[in-house]
Amino acid sequence: MSSNNPQTREWQALSNDHHLAPFSDFKQLKEKGPRIITNAKGVYLWDSEGNKILDGMAGLWCVAIGYGRDELADAASKQMRELPYYNLFFQTAHPPALQLAKAISEIAPQGMNHVFFTGSGSEGNDTVLRMVRHYWAVKGKPSKKVIISRINGYHGSTVAGASLGGMTYMHEQGDLPIPGIVHIAQPYWFGEGGDMTPDEFGVWAAEQLEKKILEVGEDNVGAFIAEPIQGAGGVIVPPATYWPKIKEILARYDILFVADEVICGFGRTGEWFGSDFYDLKPDLMTIAKGLTSGYIPMGGVIVRDEVVKVLNEGGDFNHGFTYSGHPVAAAVGLENIRILREEKIVERVKSETAPYLQKRLRELSDHPLVGEVRGVGMLGAIELVKDKATRERYVDRGVGMICRTFCFNNGLIMRAVGDTMIISPPLVISFAEIDELVEKARKCLDLTLAELQK
Ligand SMILES: Cc1ncc(COP(=O)(O)O)c(C=O)c1O
Repeated sequence: MSSNNPQTREWQALSNDHHLAPFSDFKQLKEKGPRIITNAKGVYLWDSEGNKILDGMAGLWCVAIGYGRDELADAASKQMRELPYYNLFFQTAHPPALQLAKAISEIAPQGMNHVFFTGSGSEGNDTVLRMVRHYWAVKGKPSKKVIISRINGYHGSTVAGASLGGMTYMHEQGDLPIPGIVHIAQPYWFGEGGDMTPDEFGVWAAEQLEKKILEVGEDNVGAFIAEPIQGAGGVIVPPATYWPKIKEILARYDILFVADEVICGFGRTGEWFGSDFYDLKPDLMTIAKGLTSGYIPMGGVIVRDEVVKVLNEGGDFNHGFTYSGHPVAAAVGLENIRILREEKIVERVKSETAPYLQKRLRELSDHPLVGEVRGVGMLGAIELVKDKATRERYVDRGVGMICRTFCFNNGLIMRAVGDTMIISPPLVISFAEIDELVEKARKCLDLTLAELQK
């Protein structure tokens, strides 16, 4: 992005000279220069060129209560003055972490009353890996080490997180996955369902779990981990048959179930957790993002009482982070949950704004480029195709990236996962802002189609 604005150019020069950006092609970024985001309010961002952009992704799926809430800044400032840091190691604790653990257990599914805090979702899933293996060791079944995960699932970018995840482009860098993690098919009907109906495909995909448990041996399997709805994989809403069949299989085998709620948690589906939406009854849930609305880094693992009972017998759990339950992050999380509860934001998503968003998004199905629109709550996906009937894609055209660029340049952030456009706006988005989002999305689909026809 070449700019006439000297301030933008200065920041881009700093990026070129000193910064290595996450999930970026360093060289390409140097040539283009990053877009510089300078401030934000509600569902809108402003860049250094003065452009106002509707953030259809809530940052990275995290800014649940919207940008610019002074209450969170005030909570952080107050906590920084009172106790800016102390740790939870060596039999100490502090009020914000304890109060936040209680607040989380009040909104978590029944029987999940304990929280282990981390600094991020990835650290949460690292914790899951170690906690699951420790749990089985304490139970006298140390061979139950293998974690089953899914191809194209996303569980973070640490070694354990990326290994649990099923992104081949991540596995290719750094010899991942680490041993003891195996992957099964994802329930992505639009992309991989072939001639099966969505319901048939949902059952087939779920049966892959049982097949894998039998192949690895129940005595060697510690857990199955999955996102209720895959986010980074392309907002993959499983067919209706998928979760009921998975639950049936989980009930037959003595393995733990981990729901990665990093995206689905804290109201994104219109329920507090994706596990509530699908009635999943997990043993552990990974959380982050919406926990603090992204205002400050924090993650964690919510653990079922029966699992805690076993861990209580295990002596020291030799795991933790300097910033586990950081007091400032905990104070912000607590205030964020207070706002979500008192302003009934999750209830409003469920009964008002999510139904409206889903209805308006589906109107895009009539667009010649659109093969499917799907979504749940404040999550949506638009599949871009060459042929609506056969679900055939454009080959090697980078349609998703073309569309994403048009969105950027027309005041809307939508993300592209291959040729799937995805959205996950702040939970507080209004009806009028939903209209704006959908109208901008249609305009960008038109521009993308015109570009393809050139
Ligand atoms: C489902 C899921 N799990 C884990 C993570 C990793 O979280 P973090 O980036 O905070 O480490 C993400 C991040 O997008 C995620 O979507």
